[in-house]
Amino acid sequence: MYNPFSVEGRIAIVTGGLGQIGTQISTTLAQAGAKVAIYSRRPFSAEQIAEKFPGLEDNIKVYEASVTDKDALEAATDQLIKDWGVPDILVNNAGIDSKPDGDADQNAPFEVYPKKYWDDIIETNLTGVMLTSQVVGSKMAEAGKGSIINIGSMYGMVSPNQALYAYREERDGKPFIKAISYAASKSGLINMTRYLATYWAKKGVRVNLVTYGGVKTGSFDKEFIDAFLERVPMGRQADIGEFSPIIHFLGSEASSYMTGANLVLDGGFTSW
Ligand SMILES: NC(=O)c1ccc[n+]([C@@H]2O[C@H](COP(=O)([O-])OP(=O)(O)OC[C@H]3O[C@@H](n4cnc5c(N)ncnc54)[C@H](O)[C@@H]3O)[C@@H](O)[C@H]2O)c1
Repeated sequence: MYNPFSVEGRIAIVTGGLGQIGTQISTTLAQAGAKVAIYSRRPFSAEQIAEKFPGLEDNIKVYEASVTDKDALEAATDQLIKDWGVPDILVNNAGIDSKPDGDADQNAPFEVYPKKYWDDIIETNLTGVMLTSQVVGSKMAEAGKGSIINIGSMYGMVSPNQALYAYREERDGKPFIKAISYAASKSGLINMTRYLATYWAKKGVRVNLVTYGGVKTGSFDKEFIDAFLERVPMGRQADIGEFSPIIHFLGSEASSYMTGANLVLDGGFTSW
């Protein structure tokens, strides 16, 4: 039966595929019959895979590779090609942000924001996507096929609204500023996506960006959620299951004429 939405038999890489959203993306692709190679900073045994992804063990492998380490990315990709073949899909999902409860200076006012946090976040979120795309995309371009999907954020399209975080200063008695680095890294992905989309357009490699808004997790303060939801036209956060069907779509033939696009899943946050 004709089904342009199928990803069955496709080979997909998901960087950071053991994290919150990455686990969901890997599960969705594997359940749809894709072979999923997770690139992880730490080793993950076959037993751990069976425990985390029950019933999907045959479709999921974990390769140890940090997105900031080109040699490790090359070794993992060479091994993946031997194991399964040239990848059809690359999801550049690995990403880091400043931790709200980390060292106080991670959330320091911009005037005194330490460069070390900027370096870490740019290195993972921007340089990591560039390196992974270089290593994997080159193999895709050689094979004349591929779909690269970068994972962006609404904070790559608009600045974080500092008013959403003001309660923390009132509560904790010290300044709390949502840092510049995550926003700058994610906005960099918007044009890196266009750059690579046009660069590889005639080689059969499509490159698109998916911009996510806030997803429901247990880790947010009530004060933040209340203030945040007032600014979301749909009045709610995403359920995590709402984030992966778009990856399935971009990995399939159904999106074959789409490249350089930014698909926004944010409940309308950036429309106001
Ligand atoms: N959670 C949200 O609300 C939200 C909103 C918008 C965008 N995003 C984006 O979605 C993506 C996934 O976020 P998440 O919420 O699942 O975060 P997460 O922290 O749960 O997962 C990120 C994963 O990336 C891995 N990772 C970090 N650095 C790496 C490196 N150098 N090499 C390989 N893996 C590395 C981590 O170990 C982790 O498994 C990120 O790019 C994030 O910026 C998240």
